[in-house]
Amino acid sequence: MSTHREMKRILVTGACGQIGSELTLALREKYGGENVVAAGHRTPPGPALRDSGPFEFVDVTKRDELEAVVRRYNIDTVYHMAAVLSAAGEKNPHLAWDVNINGLYNVLEVAREHNMVRVFVPSSIAVFGPETPRDPAPQETVLRPTTMYGLTKVTGELLGNYYVRRFGLDVRGIRYPGIISSETLPGGGTTDYAVEIFYEAIQHKRYTCFVREDTVLPMMYMPDCIRATLMLMEADFARLKHHTDFNLAGLSFSAGELAAEIKKHIPEFVCEYQPDFRQQIADSWPRTVDDSAAREEWGWSPQYDLPTMVADMLEKLRRKLVAQD
Ligand code: SER
Repeated sequence: MSTHREMKRILVTGACGQIGSELTLALREKYGGENVVAAGHRTPPGPALRDSGPFEFVDVTKRDELEAVVRRYNIDTVYHMAAVLSAAGEKNPHLAWDVNINGLYNVLEVAREHNMVRVFVPSSIAVFGPETPRDPAPQETVLRPTTMYGLTKVTGELLGNYYVRRFGLDVRGIRYPGIISSETLPGGGTTDYAVEIFYEAIQHKRYTCFVREDTVLPMMYMPDCIRATLMLMEADFARLKHHTDFNLAGLSFSAGELAAEIKKHIPEFVCEYQPDFRQQIADSWPRTVDDSAAREEWGWSPQYDLPTMVADMLEKLRRKLVAQD
């Protein structure tokens, strides 16, 4: 097992996405810009990504494109962030299967063949389904999701664990909650309302939320998400009993509680609720998760609560939106 080799040349797939864009910058800060290759499928990188290190167009479903970049840069570590999320996956289940399953298989195979040091493969609260205990979802529990996204993530966890056991490839992953962030918008997730609400509150003082007011889902603020990802990737392999499927808790709040917290800063803000097809997806996921395995095996604990997250989001977004005007 490649436990004590250093990560030196990193590839981030999905680098233009919500998590990938901020993760790439954090990795460049830590390992040096030239050592972190950002890869995107279609979207050209914004100036921060473009100016801080190399960028390559890679479609993860095309193994030759992936392999060419791995060879060119002598990549030894991959953060595989490219994925089709839950709501987008219900609109196009075939694409979700292709990207999330065939793309992942290509990444794992290329990593195995190139004897890589480590691979990060994110999972999600979408692995849970209606039969999972909801408050909290245990680490070891029923995984019978009802979305295509969820079932590709369960498969991803199992496949990653298989590569650990069968091929000695060091694959690690977190079941991310909904991620709230101020830089890149999320694309096609069920938890996107928890980001959209901030933009609408600042710009229009109104938001029509696509889940019910009493909908509670596990969420996390981006700084905690990045910190968790780097912590897990640096954890001592010998201490890990789990590999690809760590539950991770940050915050859990209802859509109504989030709106009320924003209203403390923007008193005119009005939130309305018009649930659409995403309500059913939200209802199939737990309200909270038990993350004691992450706490025990690699020392996880979150830093943001609802008031600190909301205050920080509003400050960062206001600055960003003023700068764009
Ligand atoms: N944020 C994701 C989604 O809503 C969950 O992993 O699809």
